[in-house]
Amino acid sequence: MQFPSFPAVALLLHAASAHHSLPRKPLESLYVTHAALSPAGPLEVIQLYKPVSIPESTRCNVQQTLMQHTFASSYGVPYVGKYTPPGCDFNSVIIEWTVTVAGRQFDRLAEMYLGDIEVWRTSTAEPTASGIVFRYQKDLSMYLSLWKTPQDVIFSLNNVFDSTYTGAFNTTLVATFFYDSTEPAHADSILPISPQLGSSGAPSIFTLPGDVATVEHILPLNVTHASVSIAATGQSNEEFWYTNALQSDIDTFDPTVGALLGYGPFREVQLFIDDQLAGVAWPFPSIFTGGIAPGFWRPVAGLDAYDLRDYEIDITPFLPHLLDGAPHAFTIKVVGVDDNGGNGAATLSEQSINSYWLVSGKLFLFHGDEAYTGPHDAPLITGAPAIDTSSVVRARNGTNETLEYGVTASRVHTVSSAFGTWTQSLSYSNTGSLRNAGLTQLNTQHTEGTAAAVLKSAPRFSSTLRYTYPITVNTTYTFSGANTTIAATLDRGLQIETSGRPDLSTFSFAAGPVALDTQQIGRAAYSNAPNASYSFGSMEQTFREQSYGSVYTRHVKSRNLTIVYDEAS
Ligand SMILES: *[C@@H]1O[C@H](CO)[C@@H](O)[C@H](O)[C@H]1NC(C)=O
Ligand SMILES: *[C@@H]1O[C@H](CO)[C@@H](O)[C@H](O)[C@H]1NC(C)=O
Ligand SMILES: *[C@@H]1O[C@H](CO)[C@@H](O)[C@H](O)[C@H]1NC(C)=O
Ligand SMILES: *[C@@H]1O[C@H](CO)[C@@H](O)[C@H](O)[C@H]1NC(C)=O
Ligand SMILES: *[C@@H]1O[C@H](CO)[C@@H](O)[C@H](O)[C@H]1NC(C)=O
Ligand SMILES: *[C@@H]1O[C@H](CO)[C@@H](O)[C@H](O)[C@H]1NC(C)=O
Ligand SMILES: *[C@@H]1O[C@H](CO)[C@@H](O)[C@H](O)[C@H]1NC(C)=O
Ligand SMILES: *[C@@H]1O[C@H](CO)[C@@H](O)[C@H](O)[C@H]1NC(C)=O
Repeated sequence: MQFPSFPAVALLLHAASAHHSLPRKPLESLYVTHAALSPAGPLEVIQLYKPVSIPESTRCNVQQTLMQHTFASSYGVPYVGKYTPPGCDFNSVIIEWTVTVAGRQFDRLAEMYLGDIEVWRTSTAEPTASGIVFRYQKDLSMYLSLWKTPQDVIFSLNNVFDSTYTGAFNTTLVATFFYDSTEPAHADSILPISPQLGSSGAPSIFTLPGDVATVEHILPLNVTHASVSIAATGQSNEEFWYTNALQSDIDTFDPTVGALLGYGPFREVQLFIDDQLAGVAWPFPSIFTGGIAPGFWRPVAGLDAYDLRDYEIDITPFLPHLLDGAPHAFTIKVVGVDDNGGNGAATLSEQSINSYWLVSGKLFLFHGDEAYTGPHDAPLITGAPAIDTSSVVRARNGTNETLEYGVTASRVHTVSSAFGTWTQSLSYSNTGSLRNAGLTQLNTQHTEGTAAAVLKSAPRFSSTLRYTYPITVNTTYTFSGANTTIAATLDRGLQIETSGRPDLSTFSFAAGPVALDTQQIGRAAYSNAPNASYSFGSMEQTFREQSYGSVYTRHVKSRNLTIVYDEAS
């Protein structure tokens, strides 16, 4: 079974322990607000995104409830249902998820599967005592070939429900099927890179480190374009990986905050095909609704909290090698920084990550008319990463007072063959500063990249992508007995620009060109002091997305559970 160890109890014990908890460990909200007793109904917790449009289609427009389920004690007990395709001719599928929950609860990661294939990774908002509601719509038309046949719908939301954690997630998942006359391209077949546990009613997801995330597939010989989409999320001791210290520095503040989380603040998700590196992803720093300080995220959830983007790697240049009728191995790895004891060049290693990452992937295959009969040479692959680390500890009178550290990384990865070329160019930097004997931590991280697929075998799928996701997070903890306070500030953004392609991207969430630019700037404070607890936050977010030929913008300010400014166009 693929269920990771139970994270929440460890967190609770950690947070509640008189022993000083480590500043960067996930300390999530158990604060239950009494201020939110709104007569107008449950507090709506939103994530900004461009609304999905469903055209007034006359040709097939039907709805199906895929799930109506309450996740209470659901740890390791996913929802399992049967899906039967509607009778009419559809080429588009949009899901809408609506959740109500009241009480005390952590944020929870959730995944939706069709059989062995994860089609959506989401997370829940943290409830208030009087209740919250959140909903999200998503275009899942990229999985059309799966929707065309009966499927097991498996929805995993590992929740704990007891006298402490009193929030049960009451959820409804509705799919709308319709015919889009613009006829976006869709993969002819989709293959899992997952443990393939769907037939036993279990979620098909790998946990790293621990699992070997490898599957073998034989590809149809007429494939002209193939891409791999990977979902990868750090959890537990890897949830805030972008704030982790170098492994050689984890004991810098043992007397005040205990061991720091290590293996550096850089992670790379890697896709291997037959032990050759096909491509990489430098992950987005997702923050869930209890993350850093819960006050940030109520009622405006973090970027992509309800819809974690997949990373896409075009593997078309591998096709000559793969189209030989033989099985080939597809492997997902997550690596961290092996800093070799301090300053200077570093390497990446599978051993250099904490527990744990949840990963799964799928192969999107687009068929041509004819079977490939050419040679099966491996593609030409170039591009090693350059990783550099630095760190300085300052002590006074034998006591460590500050730690300043940094990691930079760059990589240009190219895969080419007669079918085309895939090029990724990435750069990264992170500077970390721990002061106040480890109680104040500031990290500034920059990740940016470009990717280009220039395809001879399927020219219309050639595409370019440019993205950047900077984040600055500053957190100060105080500990007094069992009382903990947090004061935090945050500034983060996400920019994506794609030149477009005819199919719906699991990264940009649209077919065709996309320009997305969003930023969140916030401040939050938290205290768990008995009878004097509080969780306060203010957040400002700007959002602009141009896709499908239209622009959506929204500007929201929230303060102390309330939206105080909201302008959308
Ligand atoms: C937040 O709102 C509550 C109740 O409305 C109020 O008691 C509290 O003082 C507010 N906090 C701040 C920092 O404004
Ligand atoms: C869950 O929500 C549905 C729809 O809003 C409602 O009919 C049902 O009573 C709720 N169930 C629980 C257990 O709260
Ligand atoms: C100071 O930091 C160094 C480097 O992390 C560590 O080896 C050492 O044990 C620390 N000293 C104290 C007294 O905590
Ligand atoms: C491509 O090959 C697959 C598997 O052999 C087959 O099912 C499909 O019909 C072929 N597609 C075309 C367009 O020939
Ligand atoms: C250093 O430690 C000594 C002896 O414990 C103490 O007298 C002195 O005040 C300390 N100096 C500083 C700057 O903390
Ligand atoms: C980070 O927070 C601490 C404590 O509030 C503050 O002293 C420091 O100036 C902040 N740093 C930055 C760069 O904002
Ligand atoms: C914890 O906070 C409470 C206020 O709710 C205070 O009475 C108590 O003294 C604090 N405990 C410590 C050890 O600071
Ligand atoms: C919190 O309040 C309750 C009753 O209102 C009281 O019994 C308890 O002693 C208080 N706890 C602290 C730490 O002040």
